[in-house]
Amino acid sequence: MKVEGYWLASGILGVTGSVMQRVRDAGADAIVTKSIGWIPRKGHSGPVLTTSHGGLLNAVGLTNPGIDMFESEVVALKEAGVSVVLSIFGSSVEEVTKVAEKGISYGPDAIELNLSCPHAEIAQIAHNPELTFEYVSAVKDVVNCKVFAKLTPNASDYVSVGKAAERQEPMPLWLSIL
Ligand SMILES: Cc1cc2nc3c(=O)[nH]c(=O)nc-3n(C[C@H](O)[C@H](O)[C@H](O)COP(=O)(O)O)c2cc1C
Repeated sequence: MKVEGYWLASGILGVTGSVMQRVRDAGADAIVTKSIGWIPRKGHSGPVLTTSHGGLLNAVGLTNPGIDMFESEVVALKEAGVSVVLSIFGSSVEEVTKVAEKGISYGPDAIELNLSCPHAEIAQIAHNPELTFEYVSAVKDVVNCKVFAKLTPNASDYVSVGKAAERQEPMPLWLSIL
């Protein structure tokens, strides 16, 4: 897949194969899916959006159908020739590894590891270099594609966190305000 270009960020429309194809048709070079976990998850009860300081703040709560149910969406996208980055998360190293193993079998071009959703149980991972290394290396051990670590600038020492993510071998890093 081409790493350069316009990518749809995770969680923005990236839930069904047909909507993601429309985003590609509108010009996106690659689509990052909504973050998918091991089991279905409802997320927070509404309202999940509010205005703040002239902008908007959201806290969706990682709503997703679970990795088993997401197979058809990834397969539909690949059949339509879309570059797909499957975003995944897990509340433990073991759980995220299971999600990665299952997810890679659907044929995405790359995996993005959500390590920092600020209002969920995974919030602290990308604040801690050792934990970040454990998650990244466990996932890299079970997949044969590019892995993007999605970090957070809210970490007090995000340079150390980024270096820990790269420790296994140099890899692309995705720093995001979640
Ligand atoms: C409604 C909504 C849902 C999101 N869901 C996810 C998600 O599931 N996983 C993730 O890694 N990021 C998620 N994000 C964060 C975005 O991918 C992105 O990192 C964030 O919006 C910052 O980029 P921006 O400044 O261009 O908005 C979500 C953002 C929004 C607004």
